[in-house]
Amino acid sequence: MFHWLEKHPFFFAVGVFVTIAFAGLVEILPNFAQASRPVIGTAPYSTLELAGRHVYIKNSCNACHSQLVRPFKSETDRYGHYSLSGEYAYDRPFLWGSKRTGPDLMRVGNYRTTDWHENHMKDPASVVPGSIMPAYKWMFANKADIDTAFAEQLTVAQYFSVPYNEPVPMRDGSKKIVKMGASIAEANELALQEAKLIAADMRDQDVKDAVARGEIPEIVALIAYMNSLK
Ligand code: HEC
Repeated sequence: MFHWLEKHPFFFAVGVFVTIAFAGLVEILPNFAQASRPVIGTAPYSTLELAGRHVYIKNSCNACHSQLVRPFKSETDRYGHYSLSGEYAYDRPFLWGSKRTGPDLMRVGNYRTTDWHENHMKDPASVVPGSIMPAYKWMFANKADIDTAFAEQLTVAQYFSVPYNEPVPMRDGSKKIVKMGASIAEANELALQEAKLIAADMRDQDVKDAVARGEIPEIVALIAYMNSLK
């Protein structure tokens, strides 16, 4: 059989294709099964968190940071439970990353706080001596794009059945409802309420003043997103 295949390159190529296609299907198909996604404890992103995710993508944070904890002791000791496919159910696109110049951020919300992020994004070396991460000072002045985040929510709720305004199960047995505005005005209002809670834990007076005026600087949205990564 194998001798015959070696002498017939066309059929050999077909055999290789079938073998690889089968192996690919075995890896990919389970992820499409309803049961594997989303896992309990995974909630959709709020408007503000989604705006923060856009800030993360816009600034290419994923070029230096992964969001994928591998099932090795060295990783689970440092970052927590290894990643499950169902935890990415609401990630469009996935931000797994392929390079770790900095640490993995999959569960950074478990061990870093709002004020830590504030200091770190303004001047990384002030909290991590010798840090080579760049500072992102402009995020304290630029306004977060809430309208685009709301547009994304509308789209995913309609086309991907992302459960906004519905109870989703959490790990502690409770249910969480992530609200989505019915209009742009309501979405902005919801985002502002969440932004106020974050600004209350921050020191930057300009950011506090902006939020009090009803504006949302990018840094507030980014921190909301960082805090949601658990
Ligand atoms: C050029 C590479 C690079 C880029 C781009 C980058 N980082 Fe980092 N980041 C690092 C390095 C290196 C560290 C480790 C040193 C430190 O904590 O400052 C780090 C650390 C962090 C930490 C602390 C994680 C922990 O477990 O202590 C957070 C949070 C973080 N980065 C967020 C971001 C965000 C958000 C962005 C995009 C706005 C970003 N990083 C962009 C390199 C980068």
